[in-house]
Amino acid sequence: KKVVLAYSGGLDTSIILKWLQTEYGCEVITFTADLGQGEELDPARRKAEMLGIKPENIHIEDLREEFVRDFVFPMFRANAVYEGLYLLGTSIARPLISKRLVEIAHQHGADAVAHGATGKGNDQVRFELSAYALDPAIKVIAPWREWDLTSRTKLIEFAEQNQIPIAKDKRGEAPFSVDANLLHTSSEGKALENPADEAPEYVYQRTVSPEEAPDTPEYIEVTFEKGDAVAINGEAMSPATILTALNEYGRVHGIGRLDFVENRFVGMKSRGIYETPGGTILLEAHRGIEQITLDSGAGHLKDSLMPRYAELIYNGFWFSPEREMLQALIDKSQEHVTGTVRLKLYKGSVHCVGRWSDHSLYSEKHVTFEEDAGAYDQKDAAGFIRLNALRLKLIATRNARVKK
Ligand code: ARG
Ligand code: SIN
Repeated sequence: KKVVLAYSGGLDTSIILKWLQTEYGCEVITFTADLGQGEELDPARRKAEMLGIKPENIHIEDLREEFVRDFVFPMFRANAVYEGLYLLGTSIARPLISKRLVEIAHQHGADAVAHGATGKGNDQVRFELSAYALDPAIKVIAPWREWDLTSRTKLIEFAEQNQIPIAKDKRGEAPFSVDANLLHTSSEGKALENPADEAPEYVYQRTVSPEEAPDTPEYIEVTFEKGDAVAINGEAMSPATILTALNEYGRVHGIGRLDFVENRFVGMKSRGIYETPGGTILLEAHRGIEQITLDSGAGHLKDSLMPRYAELIYNGFWFSPEREMLQALIDKSQEHVTGTVRLKLYKGSVHCVGRWSDHSLYSEKHVTFEEDAGAYDQKDAAGFIRLNALRLKLIATRNARVKK
């Protein structure tokens, strides 16, 4: 029996690795992805080797470009935001990890995949819905839902018995749980569990606090083509390079911090601290270029569908017909979303302060308060308002006649 494990190289997934070998007696294949979490991957390889994984069973891949090009950018075309605030940094990474897990399983003739998400969260749902959508026969092993290593003490004991190295800071209670990739970092649990208490500053990892950010604003220009960012300050860059660069601008100016209580798909509320520096800039930039290039009917329709689309991604339905249908609609809307925006970055904020495009629908000739040379006849507005007011007048007349 063979199983492909989503392996970070950290303590928890190392314990899972060993547990799969001993408890299930299976041959373990590890998959470690660079999604821009900012960690070296060599230690994961060395640790896997040390835990007895054959070199041909260790997969380490740099997925940053695929992550941003095929997952993050399509999602940003929709301006997707969950429950008004969350930019879905963890949610959007899970389908890609699952896709690679399933592909590697096929490559090795493995019949199962395994992940380190707990039985209480969203991630188990996302990993597994994606896996089943891509291979209806795949088996999923979720050790956190099965094993009896239910406390930190038991986990450490198991690690010690199995010669799994434990970093000094992992011996005690972990202060909180972190998930990171090129789009965001998310911290949950432990020290953050009481939503009444402000999160301590040390939780933030990729942004300076707005108070510490420079006192002078910085301006940057972001260029879009068909809804995707393609250049910063006129310099063309790949998707992952753009997001990396925007992260750095955001880090310096303290942009993209979020303290948020959300509704998990599994029913409970949870409190998280998020940092999405580049993503927050990208969202403002994309909305800025849409302002002049999107027709109102198209824009309002896609905006009205956005919460549905965001919820599908949050709930793990990336590989579903309804997400793909909405994606087709969103992508269609982006045909003319091409042009450049100018952004002002200052002490935790990002504002679009200028936008221009060959595809612009903005017509100064029509909107000007000065003489418009017959572009618009103000008299037309009188009939427009009269007809729109007709039903409102009928209602008011009826209400004056009949008591409620
Ligand atoms: N609550 C976020 C989501 O469901 C993040 C989950 C993972 N984060 C973590 N710190 N373990 O997308
Ligand atoms: C986990 O439970 O593994 C992390 C949190 C989540 O998935 O929502």
